[in-house]
Amino acid sequence: MKQAQKGLFISFEGIDGAGKSTHIQALADAFKASGRAVTLTREPGGTALAEKLRQMVLNDPMDALTESLLVFAARRDHLKTVILPSLNSGQVVICDRFTDATFAYQGGGREFDLTTLTQLERWVQSVDGVFREPDLTLWFVLDPRIAAERLVSARVPDRFESQSAQFFDKVHQAYMKRALEAPQRFAQIDASQSKEAVWTQLIDVIRNKKWLNT
Ligand code: TMP
Repeated sequence: MKQAQKGLFISFEGIDGAGKSTHIQALADAFKASGRAVTLTREPGGTALAEKLRQMVLNDPMDALTESLLVFAARRDHLKTVILPSLNSGQVVICDRFTDATFAYQGGGREFDLTTLTQLERWVQSVDGVFREPDLTLWFVLDPRIAAERLVSARVPDRFESQSAQFFDKVHQAYMKRALEAPQRFAQIDASQSKEAVWTQLIDVIRNKKWLNT
């Protein structure tokens, strides 16, 4: 009998403009080509409720605690109704941002209290007594100044994209802190390289874990 496949939870992280988007789709395609079912999703968002919360977080003025509560509320709904059911049915869940983004943007960028964020993380991500987090986090590392240049002509900036270089320096430092705290979960991708070279780094990480059948 064919053995049931274990679900895999992979998140993508990085400052705005680091170039995650095209690679997220390409990784989903690579898993599908190797015969895996894939759920491609994002945060804040991924459910009808969480997408409504996303619009508020990205567009409406609010303080850092409100922002943190809304992204964690969205995360709870997303985790319970999309991520966990998909993992339990053996799928690969690829998520554009997860809790590291909260530590980076609210904790780093907005300088919101990390102890409170840690409490919210434990609370929101514990389901039936089990703490859930990504199996792997692909962190796209890019100098905030280069990321800002890439973003200039890209689109109308939201509440985060319009922040200063200093804000993104703090976001970057906070990602670095999270990566150092969980080296077994984080893989750093040098996002300053060409699209092809970035993809090679990324797919090598996945192959080294023997997660692809091809
Ligand atoms: P995106 O444009 O990459 O989809 O991300 C939406 C924005 O939301 C991005 O600027 C980062 C921000 N964000 C937070 O501030 N906190 C969070 O917890 C998440 C998931 C995203």
